[in-house]
Amino acid sequence: MTIVINMRDRIDERKLRVAARLIREGKLVAFPTETVYGLGADALNEKAARRIFEAKGRPADNPLIVHIAEFSQVYELAREVPEEAKMLAKKFWPGPLTIVLPRREIVPDVTTGGLDTVAIRMPANEIALKLIKLSGRPIAAPSANISGKPSPTTAEHVADDFYGKIECIIDGGETKIGVESTVIDLTEWPPVLLRPGGLPLEEIEKVIGEVRIHPAVFGKKVDVAKSPGMKYKHYAPDAEVIVVEGPKEKVKRKIAELVKEFKEKGKRVGVIGSESYNADEFFYLGETVEEVARNLFKALRYMDKAKVDIVLAEGVEEKGLGLAVMNRLRKAAGYKIIKAD
Ligand code: TXA
Ligand code: MG
Repeated sequence: MTIVINMRDRIDERKLRVAARLIREGKLVAFPTETVYGLGADALNEKAARRIFEAKGRPADNPLIVHIAEFSQVYELAREVPEEAKMLAKKFWPGPLTIVLPRREIVPDVTTGGLDTVAIRMPANEIALKLIKLSGRPIAAPSANISGKPSPTTAEHVADDFYGKIECIIDGGETKIGVESTVIDLTEWPPVLLRPGGLPLEEIEKVIGEVRIHPAVFGKKVDVAKSPGMKYKHYAPDAEVIVVEGPKEKVKRKIAELVKEFKEKGKRVGVIGSESYNADEFFYLGETVEEVARNLFKALRYMDKAKVDIVLAEGVEEKGLGLAVMNRLRKAAGYKIIKAD
């Protein structure tokens, strides 16, 4: 049975205590963060962490992010905490930044996917922070979607994938940022960006200087991925997705052409972007890159429900949140990219 707790308008501590108890008992609780919804379990309980993998259908070598509510918890999880980690945490936590550090033995292999490192983040969401504090445990939480599906930005998305399969869903309304946290590896020097996300890389570099971008971020094939999540296809709706990239006006012209071509072939065409181009289905993403990030996964899930054959997506400039948006779009497209120039 799945308990759904509605906290869209008000945080109810009494109900949060129920959810926190479930975490302590090794159960699965989905909860909102500022990025996307997480599928939470006690990070230090091997059995509980294993259930996350089973529920999601997640490959065992893809490690989980451990969520904390106070900086001091970093020392319980990591055996070395470099100065840069403190500087980043001071500036950006709570917030959409995940820091990879050498792990302590207390963190089970299941949680870290067998790696000698642990990914840690303090989310900027009152419900999430209270849940962590009340449970008295660090909470492991991947995005609360079936593996390979777009990440959830509403409790309805979580219910679509997990209703009846997990013990509790806390509904905290729509998430603010809409793409997952930025993941940075501080076990190497210079630090490595493993996943662009809700915190722009430019902001991180202002604090710790130059960061190397892992080639997998741009879809380069890697043999031994540092962050195994990088090698899996992600965020993919059932339809074929194609990203059209290039200067704005040329992208628009190209999409208009493609919509016409696919429709002539009898395909049902969906467009996600800034205008409809006469497509069968259209999801407006917004003007600013922040709005685009917030709506992206919702748009991909919408296209699944609308049962289109093809989704054409407008590319955006790769700066600020644009780097995360393009990374997710290209992954959703399985790197089917058309250059409009
Ligand atoms: O915003 C987020 O980060 C959300 C919310 C719920 O906090 N969580 C999330 O988790 O996106 P997930 O599991 O969907 O993505 C975790 C990413 C994966 O790419 C994984 O490979 C990487 O973080 N990761 C986790 N632990 C790691 C480690 N020890 N070393 C390198 N990468 C790690
Ligand atoms: Mg995920």
